[in-house]
Amino acid sequence: MGRGGAEAAGGSRGRYSCAFGVCGGETKGKGNGVKQFRLLSLLVIGLVALLALVGCGGLRGGGADQGGGEGTYTLKFSHVVTAETPKGAASEKFKELVEEKSDGNITVELYPNSSLYGDEDEMQAIQSGSVQMLAPAGAKFGTIAPQLQVLDLPFLAGSPEEIQEVVSKDSAIGQAIYENEDLAASNMKVLGLWDLGFKQFASNTPTRSPEALQGQKMRIQSGSDVLKDQTETWGASATPMAFGEVFNALQQGVIDGLENTYANFYSQKMHTVQKYITESNHGYIGYVLVINEDFFNELPSDLQQAVTEAADEATEYNREIAFQKDQEAKKNIVDAGTTEIIEPSDAERQAFKEAVVPEVWDRHADAIGPELVEELKAKQGT
Ligand code: SIN
Repeated sequence: MGRGGAEAAGGSRGRYSCAFGVCGGETKGKGNGVKQFRLLSLLVIGLVALLALVGCGGLRGGGADQGGGEGTYTLKFSHVVTAETPKGAASEKFKELVEEKSDGNITVELYPNSSLYGDEDEMQAIQSGSVQMLAPAGAKFGTIAPQLQVLDLPFLAGSPEEIQEVVSKDSAIGQAIYENEDLAASNMKVLGLWDLGFKQFASNTPTRSPEALQGQKMRIQSGSDVLKDQTETWGASATPMAFGEVFNALQQGVIDGLENTYANFYSQKMHTVQKYITESNHGYIGYVLVINEDFFNELPSDLQQAVTEAADEATEYNREIAFQKDQEAKKNIVDAGTTEIIEPSDAERQAFKEAVVPEVWDRHADAIGPELVEELKAKQGT
């Protein structure tokens, strides 16, 4: 064999070629040269395999465009109500759907009833990524995204059908919430709008008029200037308080009463410490389902799709069951026999409304968005 042929074979005695900038010098024998060549070959094969694996998305968690691999994610979803409420049931549906749609690559851990975070710390927790999902009432976003107080406007709608139209993804309110820049700036992405129901007054004295609220210490959800204003306009003293503290505060007489829904009264046993509930239907509690945006963006695209589809289907489910569950809770309270339900006449209900609409709406138009408030007023004929 001539010299050229031996060198081309790369394993001849004497010189051998350079590869990837690593060059061997003169070798003492054929054995060493072959070993080094094999080592280099193995390195090259390993590098190529690694690049192929990354290119095909085989490693999870590296970027949002990857899909189809084996990585898993844990999504903590914290809320402040019990599992049998409209939010509790919808969050369980969301867990079931997302785990199924992600083929088990996402595990949802549910933390109901303020067991992980309460009203006082959940907003901080989602922004920092200590929890990935929440579904707080609109009021709770008041200091972060004041526009969401739109959901607190008194007498926003008169029936479940109307509220589901006024607060839908495609409505003016829905668009304002989905596109809210303050939420985006706070690392939150909106995935759905969920119902709880209409608010009633609970108290230990019968409430048939705004005058009956004079001097009463009424708990309101923290964060909402609209709720504070409406309560004070009716003559009561507004006491913002975390939901998880309300039962004890009622029991100990720290507050006299509150506004809330039958589902929340019943599931927290508040009816056992309140003699009257006035079915005023004077406002709405709706939830904004949010996910930590960084977490969502880091999911591979197939898992992002699983999350958004599960959220859409859980939203549909929530809206099918919310008002029905609220009525079941009302029946349970009636059956418990602890609390008298007062059904105000149309005139009595109207008196509550005339005291606050449109004045409270107008006073908060700048925070909510003047155009949105005008649009809602036009729709209501207010
Ligand atoms: C909730 O339903 O999430 C709590 C509402 C409240 O704080 O009154």
